[in-house]
Amino acid sequence: MAEHQVDEVVEFLAGARRVAVLTGAGISAESGVPTFRGNDGLWKQYRAETLATPEAFERDPVLVWEWYDWRRSLIAPVAPNAGHRVLAGWESLFGDLAVITQNVDGLHAKAGSRNIVELHGNIWKLRCTREGTVEENRNTPLPRIPPVCPNCGSLFRPHIVWFGESLDPVVFDRAYGLSEACQAMFVIGTSAVVQPAASLPLAASRAGAKIIEVNIEPTPLTPQADYFFPGKAGEVLPLLDRRLRDRRPASGRERPPDRRA
Ligand code: APR
Repeated sequence: MAEHQVDEVVEFLAGARRVAVLTGAGISAESGVPTFRGNDGLWKQYRAETLATPEAFERDPVLVWEWYDWRRSLIAPVAPNAGHRVLAGWESLFGDLAVITQNVDGLHAKAGSRNIVELHGNIWKLRCTREGTVEENRNTPLPRIPPVCPNCGSLFRPHIVWFGESLDPVVFDRAYGLSEACQAMFVIGTSAVVQPAASLPLAASRAGAKIIEVNIEPTPLTPQADYFFPGKAGEVLPLLDRRLRDRRPASGRERPPDRRA
C-alpha cells in the first residue's frame, strides 16, 4: 500500500465523524465464506437463475432450500475475521459509523457491529410466503425441507433479496441517506456490479464524500475512488486501524495538539 496514500487517508479520517462502509462477499472470504464471482465463487459453480430467483423457488422450493441449507451449514461454524472486527471497533472510534452490507451471512453482527444495514437480507431469517412474517432460525441442518410457517402452514422462504426482486425501500432509503450524509465511504470486498448497491458509493461521492476502496483487485468503481488499497480486507483494515488509533482517540474527538513539540 502506498505510504503517502495511507498518510492522507489517516489524516482525513482523523477529523471525520460520519463514516459509511459498504461491504460485499470479499470481506467474508477470509472467514471461509465463498464469494459469488471469485474463482471459487458460488455463481461459478451454480446457476443463480435456478437457485436465487422467485421463479426458481416457485418451480422447485426443495432444491432452493437444499442449497440455502447447505450455505447455512457452511456459514454457521465460521467466525468473523480481522476485517469484520476492525469495523465493529470503528463504531466507537468514529462516533457515527454505519455498515451497509450486501452480505447475508450475519458476520458483521457476530463481530459486534450494531449499526448495520442489510441490503440483501439475512440467511438466518425465514419469511412466511403468505403472511410475510419474518422469524430468526439458526437450525443447521433445517429439521424439515422446505420449512413451513407454524402459524399458517404456508412455505417459508429465505428472507433474502433474490435476483429480479426489489430491495426493501425502507432499507434502501436508509442506506442511501447514510451514503449521502457520510464524509467518507469505505467500499470493501465488493465487485461493485450489482445494483442498486453499486450506486451507493457514487451517491456518496456526488455528495462530497471521499471513497476509499479495499479489494484484492480493481473493480469498475476503482477509477472513481479517491483511494484504492489493493489487498485483503483482513490485512488492510488492521493496518489502517493501527495508524488511525495512533492518530486519534476514540469517538471523534481530535487528539489535543501535543504541547511538548
Ligand atoms: N479482501 C478484499 N476483497 C476481496 C477478498 C478479500 N479477502 N476476496 C475477494 N475480494 C473481492 C473480489 O475481488 C471481488 O471484487 O471481493 C469481491 C467479491 O465480489 P462478488 O463475489 O461479486 O460479491 P459481491 O460484490 O458481494 O456481490 C454482490 O451479488 O450475487 C449477488 O446478492 C449477491 O450480495 C451479492 C451481490
